[in-house]
Amino acid sequence: MRAVRYHQYGGVENLVVDEVPEPHPGPGEVRIRVAAAGVNPVDWKVRSGAVRDFLPLELPAIPGRDAAGVVDEIGPDVSGVDLGDRVFGLGGVTGATAEFAVLSAWAPAPDEWDDAQAAGAGLASVTAIGGLNPLGPLHGRTLLVEGGAGGVGSAAVEIAVARGATVIATASERNHAYLASLGAAPTTYGPGLAERVARLAPNGVDVALDTAASGSLADLVAIVGEPGRVSTVADHAGAASLGVHLANAENNPAYLAEAAELGREGRYTPQIERTFPFAETADAHTYVERGHVRGKVTISL
Ligand SMILES: NC(=O)c1ccc[n+]([C@@H]2O[C@H](COP(=O)([O-])OP(=O)(O)OC[C@H]3O[C@@H](n4cnc5c(N)ncnc54)[C@H](OP(=O)(O)O)[C@@H]3O)[C@@H](O)[C@H]2O)c1
Repeated sequence: MRAVRYHQYGGVENLVVDEVPEPHPGPGEVRIRVAAAGVNPVDWKVRSGAVRDFLPLELPAIPGRDAAGVVDEIGPDVSGVDLGDRVFGLGGVTGATAEFAVLSAWAPAPDEWDDAQAAGAGLASVTAIGGLNPLGPLHGRTLLVEGGAGGVGSAAVEIAVARGATVIATASERNHAYLASLGAAPTTYGPGLAERVARLAPNGVDVALDTAASGSLADLVAIVGEPGRVSTVADHAGAASLGVHLANAENNPAYLAEAAELGREGRYTPQIERTFPFAETADAHTYVERGHVRGKVTISL
């Protein structure tokens, strides 16, 4: 099969298309013929070698954490899925940007989503749900999402609105209309956040989710009043020092199923800013690495 690979850590110039052996699913896994793969910040962080101490790879490696496609092989000890089913989900830290990929967590892709939307829903939805859950029931509460316009932030805004929250979300001004279209009251990140949020929520903010790791975690704690009502998916050091919830993405099929159900109900529509052809994966990585994606970037196969 054809796969994008890198043979050494470093920049996007290391990304090449190689002919490689096809992967096969192990126990509890399925293989999909990939229709689209997601591109996430973890892809370039791992590729660059910056996180090699925590996430060491065997090189060469195929980038890509999530994908969507049609099931074409089923591993042992798997039930509830058939050959030909259209699914989306997650494999390992690498492996998705290829003609075939193995998934260890998946859910049926809603007919309402095209392939890019299904591919863009994997890591974003499980991370958003994992970040929101420690904050408790959201119905009738006011949630602040720091970094609302990115992949995880956009999913978190949509899912929190679906759970009945009033959502305030931060982004640069060019993304304010976008945030409003997702159902959030937009404001700008950076100095003066507490004052801007107080104007939007005169009765206060109950809970906050950080997806930006911009150094604002202490401000979020001050805005909601206590660390137990804040969670982050991105600021590991801040979470440890401030005592806020840290949520790492889980390959959790129940989270994927919840996202898919919201998709079928029209309450979670993965937002795709741009889809790159397979041969232009390096350009997709460069685009994501700039840190200003609106929603998701995906690769089509
Ligand atoms: N713990 C985990 O398992 C896990 C899983 C997934 C992601 N993550 C991490 O979570 C973070 C977000 O991931 P993602 O996929 O959502 O990234 P992303 O899509 O690349 O995020 C881009 C967004 O970040 C916004 N942004 C940039 N600087 C900001 C700032 N100072 N304050 C607030 N927003 C800012 C941008 O908005 P503007 O363009 O308007 O500036 C843009 O919309 C990354 O650090 C990622 O590595 C962790």
